Amino acid sequence: MEVVILPGEEQIAAVGADIIAQHVAARPAAVLGLATGSSPLRVYEQLGRRIAAGDLTLSGCSAVLLDEYLGLPTGHREAYRQVIEREFVERVDIDSTRVHGPDGSASDVVVACAEYEEQIRAAGGVDVQLLGIGGNGHIAFNEPGASLAGRTQARMLTEQTRRDNARFFGDDIDAVPRHCLTQGIGTIREARHLLLIALGSAKAEAVQQLVEGPVSALWPASALQLHPHVTVLLDDAAASRLELREHYLASAEHRLAGQRY
Ligand code: GLP
Repeated sequence: MEVVILPGEEQIAAVGADIIAQHVAARPAAVLGLATGSSPLRVYEQLGRRIAAGDLTLSGCSAVLLDEYLGLPTGHREAYRQVIEREFVERVDIDSTRVHGPDGSASDVVVACAEYEEQIRAAGGVDVQLLGIGGNGHIAFNEPGASLAGRTQARMLTEQTRRDNARFFGDDIDAVPRHCLTQGIGTIREARHLLLIALGSAKAEAVQQLVEGPVSALWPASALQLHPHVTVLLDDAAASRLELREHYLASAEHRLAGQRY
């Protein structure tokens, strides 16, 4: 795991976009794993700017989402497929029909989850997966207690996550769905490169557990310690509780020439 502490969101977005561009340069048909939430937004904006400037194209890529609410009416503004359409697809030059997410309107969720796993497999697996992190250490919608080897499945959200996400539903927690479909941690861990972004002091404890804590279902993101290629991009506030903070800063300062993320 490489922990990179950067001064602010713009620098984080630049490194995040560099990493995605590096994957696309290596494989123009790269499969991008997308995350919703506010943390990756600036990366999506950066990618859009690079494409507009003619420095990058995602036209050969496909993309898969981490998770989806269950039971929102089709086309609901806050359904993650819609959010990704607004925040990502409309900014870049990817073909919208090659962007896939779990089917939150499925009548048989077990079948929908199995089909989604198959879709990811058929695409050749995810080359680079963007991730945010919840204040309670969730990744995608794998809340504390989730299996660290789980596959795509239906899950129930915690009160805390529903409260956190109520801001997208007119501050009405009752409007936030109680259930979701999410890639399991086992599914996420099959992506070849994981790129996690955390911003702000509300993430500091979860980040400390992710990077330095014991691997534990209490902090699902800690399972990323078992993945061979993880890059964690943090602002100062999100990094503030890391015990080895000085070491991570020094490692970033003394990166080897040409060292890749
Ligand atoms: C939601 C998403 C997660 C995301 C988390 C953090 O619960 N399902 O994938 O990482 O929110 O969001 P934010 O980046 O807005 O803090």
